[in-house]
Amino acid sequence: MTAYEDDIHHFSVHFTLTIRQAQREDMRKLEWRGEFSHLRELFERSYREQLFGRRHLLVADSGGYPVGRLFILLNGHNAKRANGSTHAYLYSLQVMSLFQGKGVGTRLIDAAEALLRQRGFAVVSIAVAKDNPRAQALYERLGYVVVDENEGRWQYRDHRGKQQDVHEPCWILEKSLR
Ligand SMILES: CC(C)(COP(=O)(O)OP(=O)(O)OC[C@H]1O[C@@H](n2cnc3c(N)ncnc32)[C@H](O)[C@@H]1OP(=O)(O)O)[C@@H](O)C(=O)NCCC(=O)NCCS
Repeated sequence: MTAYEDDIHHFSVHFTLTIRQAQREDMRKLEWRGEFSHLRELFERSYREQLFGRRHLLVADSGGYPVGRLFILLNGHNAKRANGSTHAYLYSLQVMSLFQGKGVGTRLIDAAEALLRQRGFAVVSIAVAKDNPRAQALYERLGYVVVDENEGRWQYRDHRGKQQDVHEPCWILEKSLR
């Protein structure tokens, strides 16, 4: 054994996570120290609409820091997907890379579905980029089925005020909550 290997110490770290509704002070933290600063305005808008009951923002909290997020559109422009009473739409699901593959995403989706069931919603949908088969596999394992496809064209204004155009062809998956 070399002196270097002698210096290696193995230990495991245990994290307790809580799924909860996002608060005002989570918004900047959700930028994950720059990784998602470009989505600042989108986070802010989602938060503002949460205050009016049109959206519900869930975070996976570890020690006061949001390490995962899943936003729920309860009432939107596309009534087929989110009409405020029977249909809701999940979006912006992301788990910090260090925490991926440990069940956090599954728990965020479970929590969203439980909240929607409690409020009497019957159908929930989610979009997944066609080039993200791992996330698609996760949704299908949780009972979502492909019902539609979409060109995935949308715009947002980044934190520098520049408009960004997104083109991400995606599948729309749906699940019955009854
Ligand atoms: C997709 C994602 C939200 C899932 O959350 P998670 O906590 O990693 O998922 P869970 O541990 O509950 O479930 C594991 C499953 O998630 C999927 N998954 C895991 N890591 C992933 C990754 N980097 N990208 C996409 N899917 C991933 C796989 O289906 C995995 O199952 P497998 O290990 O049998 O392949 C998370 O991995 C992530 O943030 N990925 C990058 C962003 C993304 O793809 N978001 C989805 C947009 S639709």
